[in-house]
This record gives sequence, C-alpha cells and structure tokens, in this order.
Amino acid sequence: MQARQIRENIYWMGAVDWDRRLFDALIPLPDGTSYNAYLIPGSDKTVLVDSVDPTQADALLAQLHDLPQVDYVIAHHAEQDHSGSIPVVLERYPEARVIATPKGVEMLIDHLLIPAERFVAVEDGETLSLGDKTLTFIHTPWVHWPETMVTYLAQERILFTCDFFGSHLATSDLYVTDEARVYEAAKRYYAEIMMPFRRIIRRNLDKLQGYQVDLIAPSHGPIYDRPAFILDAYRDWTSETPKNVAVIPYVSTHGSTARMVEYLVGALTEKGVTVHQFDLAVTDIGKLAIALVDAATIVIGTPTIHVGPHPAVFYAAHLANLLRPKARFASIVGSYGWNSKAVEQIAALIPNLKVELLEPVLCKGHPRESDFVALDRLAAEVAEKHQSL
Ligand code: FEO
Repeated sequence: MQARQIRENIYWMGAVDWDRRLFDALIPLPDGTSYNAYLIPGSDKTVLVDSVDPTQADALLAQLHDLPQVDYVIAHHAEQDHSGSIPVVLERYPEARVIATPKGVEMLIDHLLIPAERFVAVEDGETLSLGDKTLTFIHTPWVHWPETMVTYLAQERILFTCDFFGSHLATSDLYVTDEARVYEAAKRYYAEIMMPFRRIIRRNLDKLQGYQVDLIAPSHGPIYDRPAFILDAYRDWTSETPKNVAVIPYVSTHGSTARMVEYLVGALTEKGVTVHQFDLAVTDIGKLAIALVDAATIVIGTPTIHVGPHPAVFYAAHLANLLRPKARFASIVGSYGWNSKAVEQIAALIPNLKVELLEPVLCKGHPRESDFVALDRLAAEVAEKHQSL
C-alpha cells in the first residue's frame, strides 16, 4: 500500500496485516490488524512516527524509498509491532535519531540492541520544532507498558497515540467509517491489554483533556476524525462503576453444569440482569475479555475433574485475574461426581479480583429441584447486589 495523505504534508504509512490471526501467541485477531506509522515532513526536520512489525518492514521501506532524509523516528512504545523495524530505518538513515521517553530508551536498547548514541530521551511536556511544525511529547505510562507516550502536533491538532485508543482492525478505510465495528475492536483491544491499568489510563485521559484534538491517529486501526467517540468510550470503560451485567464462563463435560448455567442465565434474565454466557471449550477469549470490561458479577461454571475445576477454567480464571476487571461479585456453579475442591481452587486463582464471593451452588451428579432453588437464590442475590451499584 502507498503512503496516504491525512492532512496537508502529513502522511499515513505502514502496513495492513489482513491475515494475522494471533498476537503474542495468545490474543485472537478475528479482524487482522494494522501497524500505522506516520510521516511528518517539517520545513527544517522530518519525523517518522513509529515503525511497523518487523514482518512488514519491506512495506515501510518501500514507502520511504524516495525520501532522502529522516531526522527523527519517534518510538512511542518499545513493543516490537511498532519498534521492530526501527533498526532498518536507522540503517537507511544513518543520521536519524530515535526519540523516546527515558524508560523507552532503556527498553529499546534492551529489546532491539540499538546503540545508546542513536537516542534522544524526552521529558514529559518537552517540545521539538520541525520548523513550521511543533511536536509536544506527553508521557502516558502503562498503556500498556511502562515507557509509553503520545505526541501532539499543535498546528494540525493531531494526537499520535500508538496503542492508546487503537484497534486490531484491518481495513482500507483511513478514518473510522463504521463506529459500531471499531467500537467492538477497540474495546477488545482495551480489554485484552489495558484493562489491568485502568486507573493510570484514567489519569492519562485527564492529562490529554488540555489539548484541542481534531484527529486521533493510533498505530493500530483507523484514525478517529471524531475523537469524542473513542474518548467517551475510554471514559466509560475505565470508570470504576460496573454495569448490571453478569458474565458466565463455563465448561460442561456431561451436561450437568451446562443445565445449571442455562437455568441460572434464565433466572438472571428474568430479574433484569444482562448476561453473557461463554462455553470455554469453544469461545474466543477476546469476546470474554470484552464482556469483563463492564461486568459486575462473574459466575464460573465448572465440572469437577480430578477433584478440582476443569483445566479450561484454570486458564480462564487466571486470565481474568491478570486482566483485573472491575467486577464486584463472583460465584461458582457446577457439578461433581463424588468430591470437589473446585470452589477453593478457583478462589485461590483470582486474588487480584476484589470481589465478594456469593454462595456457590455445586450439585452431586445431575441437578435436582433443590439445586434449581439454590440457583434461584443466587440469581436473586446477584440482582439485589446489582441494585446498589
Ligand atoms: Fe501495538 Fe503494545 O503494541
């Protein structure tokens, strides 16, 4: 793909990775992704904003082919999907230097073995004149690594944000055209990597309020020409108040746990609670992560396998513990054959979740009438707890 002009003499560069389906050997990418770099030629200096995943370095080098000089490469973030092609750019432009936060410099040296003399470390709020344009570097740590920053181009009111506000979405659209589609992709991205840092991300959002922004240009997914759309979404996702939502990840081996989950979903729905049910044997974990952004209650459903929960439940519980959603209540339902330590073992897996554990419902073998009564009691308790959110 050719470079594309986004404002007079400012260009999108990079690569659309239509067919990538996994990130970090962990995160599903149902819609592919893009690695956006941007070129800002000033009257005195020329800046490249971020680079691309090393697998796509040739695409970036082709876009830079006729450009005689790059003075600086801004590395907003040291992760290799943005920084990984910086070494080949530096090879092409031996005079170019890399701009990063002090922590970013350290990390880029560690991850890419770039010599220290090629860097310029910038402090929070520091500016750089390109002649007719001025860049301001704003430290926004923990989005989602400790070294992250964004850059503001005052003359055009563009905020270059790298992962912040990004979406894993391969599209030929330069700007957001389908807000519903981008909302889900951006929420998925937030849920998968940024949710554990929502308090500091809130502080970063506060910090950005002082800037007049016409365009938010992230390094994944399309550019926001209506910044309020994504800023409002981030405000909502990072708030500490969960919604009237219960998430039920579960596994069932012979149908008993599935029957309990089905009953509980019906009982919660009747009481006005929005429910998201996920069979962990087949679910896309990104969908589960999205649902966890808003959930007030998590109910884990598991059969007992060798005394403890099903291994898929270990994985999901560990993941939820890492993502630290804002849920306030949790419970466990499921079936066992002769003995179970599932409740104790699941509780031990989620120390990061600041949840009140509501009385679990475990049944021996197939659920009986008394078990459905217990599930009605659990549904009533969840609905009542949600009244006080
Ligand atoms: Fe898109 Fe954290 O890298």
